[in-house]
Amino acid sequence: MIKPIGSSELKPLFIYDSEVHHQVMQEAEKLPSITISSQAASNAVMMGGGYFTPLTGFMNVADALSVSESMRMTDGAFFPVPVMCLLETTDAIKDAARIALRDPNMDGNPILAVMDVQAIEQINDQQMELMTQKVYGTTDTEHPGVKTFNSQGRFAVSGTIQVLHFSYFQDDFPDTFRTAVEIRNKIAERGWERVVAFQTRNPMHLAHEELCHMAMERLNCDGLVIHMLLGKLKPGDIPAPVRDAAIRKMVELYFKPNSAMVTGYGFDMLYAGPREAVLHAYFRQNMGATHFIVGRDHAGVGDYYGAFDAQTIFDEVPEGALQIEIFKADHTAYSKKLNKVVMMREAPDHAKEDFVLLSGTKVREMLGKGIAPPPEFSRPEVAKILMDYYQSLK
Ligand code: ADX
Repeated sequence: MIKPIGSSELKPLFIYDSEVHHQVMQEAEKLPSITISSQAASNAVMMGGGYFTPLTGFMNVADALSVSESMRMTDGAFFPVPVMCLLETTDAIKDAARIALRDPNMDGNPILAVMDVQAIEQINDQQMELMTQKVYGTTDTEHPGVKTFNSQGRFAVSGTIQVLHFSYFQDDFPDTFRTAVEIRNKIAERGWERVVAFQTRNPMHLAHEELCHMAMERLNCDGLVIHMLLGKLKPGDIPAPVRDAAIRKMVELYFKPNSAMVTGYGFDMLYAGPREAVLHAYFRQNMGATHFIVGRDHAGVGDYYGAFDAQTIFDEVPEGALQIEIFKADHTAYSKKLNKVVMMREAPDHAKEDFVLLSGTKVREMLGKGIAPPPEFSRPEVAKILMDYYQSLK
């Protein structure tokens, strides 16, 4: 099986030993504690599940700046984005050596993790701007990811963590939320050797479905892992439970039995386009996938990134840092001439009008009015779930 990054085995930071878990939980209740940002909490959940192996906790400022600049930590280890715990104030923890991190997303702010504090550093405006520019490719505060990143505090608390909880993800998505440990185990159990992962934060329409089928076929894969983002999105994006239902219906009806796993991970969307694509590939290798689909405008938003920037960035990934292979897909759409979904570059004799192309806005408008998009765009069963959702908003 493909090895995790920088390590012969996965290093989840969740405390799996129930006795130790109990002890640390009891200890944590007495430690100075602070409620962290949602972004930091979702980083802790990812580290807990082994997705960010071999990280041992939150980065200090030197490492965060270094990965922003060159995707390498100060010791040379590869990581695509800063993983920071940014606080507005440190009053509650002062100079404590061991602290508890509380979950901002659950009632009562229960303890999510415990940290051995290595440093508390203040980030200045110039450092923040540099990281934002490098990671998001812009400092425009209209960019939803830039807005979230910059709306956190300026005190970076760094150090190793032990994770005690998987936040709301386990309760809210018991059938879908899976750690990297669980997905690796499932892949091994099924005996899959060539495994392609599909990232999504959207319901899957026909083009997405066919993209997955094409990747499986062309790469000669044993299985597909649909791995959906379950964390926070920008306003207007479709909530995870609706996407989950739509994707499950599609898999049930249109994939061979046992050829696709429907899973999800607890992380807030960054909308960082190319850099997020590299992060996506990073944690898919850790969960055991050998291949990863990157299509058009992967993890993008608005017009901030070129349609294929998230593919070309892989040329900048340090040699040998990633073992997972990228399936670089062209824009896929239904061809009216060929009566099937194709990659547009593979149909050079086609004009734009030969494809069924609908903008996201147009599709939302139709669904809101209870009009199903054409079957060349969306499976009717998927469209039904989405129409019910949009109509429930009225
Ligand atoms: S993302 O933010 O999670 O990347 P989305 O769920 O829309 O957004 O896309 C999931 C994956 O499908 C990404 O790799 C994206 O590039 C790819 N994709 C989506 N639509 C198309 C399309 N029409 N053609 C090619 N690739 C696509």
